[in-house]
Amino acid sequence: METSLEPAVERAPAAPAAPAAPAAPWERWLEDRARVRATRGLHRVESSRELLMDLASNDYLGLSGHPEVRAAAADAVHRHGAGAAASRVATGTLPVHNELEEALCRYTHRSQALVYSSGYTANLGLLQALGGPGSLFILDAHAHASLIDGARLSGARVTTAAHNDLAEVQRLLEVNRDCANPVPRVAVVLESVYSVLGDAAPLVAAAELCARHRALLVIDEAHSLAATHQGSAVRAAGLADCSHVLATATLSKALGAQGGAVLLGGGQAGALREHLVNTSRTFLYDTALAPAAAGAAIAALGLADAARLDRLGRNARLVHDTLAADPRLAHRIEKGAGAVHSVMMRDAASAVRAAASLRARGIAVACFRPPSVPDGVSRLRITAHADHDPDALLTALHTIARIILEEES
Ligand SMILES: Cc1ncc(COP(=O)(O)O)c(C=O)c1O
Repeated sequence: METSLEPAVERAPAAPAAPAAPAAPWERWLEDRARVRATRGLHRVESSRELLMDLASNDYLGLSGHPEVRAAAADAVHRHGAGAAASRVATGTLPVHNELEEALCRYTHRSQALVYSSGYTANLGLLQALGGPGSLFILDAHAHASLIDGARLSGARVTTAAHNDLAEVQRLLEVNRDCANPVPRVAVVLESVYSVLGDAAPLVAAAELCARHRALLVIDEAHSLAATHQGSAVRAAGLADCSHVLATATLSKALGAQGGAVLLGGGQAGALREHLVNTSRTFLYDTALAPAAAGAAIAALGLADAARLDRLGRNARLVHDTLAADPRLAHRIEKGAGAVHSVMMRDAASAVRAAASLRARGIAVACFRPPSVPDGVSRLRITAHADHDPDALLTALHTIARIILEEES
């Protein structure tokens, strides 16, 4: 008897082969993009900071691994579970979110806070909720990608002012006020401390200018919450009670946790918060912040005290003063207002080589290249942390100065 391994069923006619053509344009495009990145020295890889002297991460106060922060994260998981399981307006609001919002208000001296799942979604959600026809956003040219994206997605009219140039902001406000069809609602959008250059915005003057023009002032405190004098640039500038000053922040940098927040004060704060709860899409349609992150952020706020901020300030000055002491480097260092100092490099390729060379010596610094640098100038960014030992930091800084000079000689 003849045996066969073939199934005793009639074969269906072969399905026509799927046309290969649609994939080709995407494949070619991906290859082309990768080639352009490689030739311009813009290729990026995921990178870890383990076993390195960390002068690159935003863990300014060294709190992400602090035992009390870890324990608070674990405790929140035990109390509430691994995830919030729903949006804040469904069943996702947990006691730990309310506790975190109260702790943020106490820390920043603001009266209302609304927590988001990241700083990015806080910026996106705030600008989208304020935007639409009838709104105009004036953005600083160095505003973070999340502010740019939020403004673009909002449907508002968007214009950009030169970096830290309040005279230009004033001119744009006046152009709008004096034109035939002024946009009725205006918001000026700044960062307290800019992430690439590390310089500070003139917050008091900006708030006065906005008040004169009945405009809102949106300040991203990503690099100042728990990282500068008094723990908040808005508070330090005496603006915590101003209704027209809206702040956003991330819990993922100095607080060493994860998440974001909108922080409000003054008489309009309650109405603004309610507006966000009802209209801010990244609040409404996003699962609430994970309990562990919320618990960790609460503990970190308790630890982000004046002593830690002072240590951070001392180490930040050490970074600047050590690098600026070398006359060959002094003109390339931007004096940061907070923990970040940037050194301008000749081009993206030399910035990448210098960062790699430092990494090989156990030192992690951030390497900023287009498109992350608003002015197209590549930089090494050196970030001080409160928990750096000053002697070890000094040794690392001497190595950094030597490598930069060797690379660019
Ligand atoms: C100025 C600024 N805003 C917002 C964000 C986004 O914050 P998060 O990382 O919490 O999403 C960042 C992070 O890099 C930032 O630097």
